[in-house]
Amino acid sequence: MDLYRPEFVKINGESFRIYLTHEEIQQRNKQIGAQISKDFNDKKPIFIGVLNGAYIFLADLMRYVSIACEVDFLKLSSYGDEKVSTGQVHDLKDIDADISGRHVILVEDIVDTGLSMKYLIDKLKKDEPASLSVVTLLHKKAATKHDVQIDYAGFNIPDLFVLGYGLDYAQEGRNLAQIYILEEKES
Ligand code: IMP
Ligand code: MG
Repeated sequence: MDLYRPEFVKINGESFRIYLTHEEIQQRNKQIGAQISKDFNDKKPIFIGVLNGAYIFLADLMRYVSIACEVDFLKLSSYGDEKVSTGQVHDLKDIDADISGRHVILVEDIVDTGLSMKYLIDKLKKDEPASLSVVTLLHKKAATKHDVQIDYAGFNIPDLFVLGYGLDYAQEGRNLAQIYILEEKES
């Protein structure tokens, strides 16, 4: 069976076109995985994935990491079913692991305003990890208002809504194998 990777998709009446291909994403995952393996050699880091959006990226990225490591997940909600941030972050699920004294690598799908990332960094630091690093597949640099540290960024992207590869629009589109970007309407 082939990966689900059409040229265009339509969800909720909005049109999206391919922005990053499967090959481009996997190439970048490979580079970041190699870099993390080098930077955390002998440290047995714990990856913490932010659900739901980061599950596919984290699953792929970890398979390019060639050192001992662990994984856990937490879940946040901020967007609801809209295309713009609600400006509020809620905890929906916490990690089970004890991260005090551990090397933590937080894995996000996308940093947009930076609100969620700032919230997560402040929250996890309270548990006194030995170190806290941040990986995001996508970074909307122009939209980022909060001052957040990002140690590994896959791609800097324009301030437009994207979906696929774990990212959704009103919960749909996560199964697309690539990243799609909203087609701007002609006015
Ligand atoms: P922030 O708190 O504004 O940085 O938003 C972060 C969260 O909003 C991400 O973890 C995503 O779940 C979601 N998000 C932000 N931009 C997009 C997008 O373009 N498509 C889908 N989800 C997005
Ligand atoms: Mg997210």
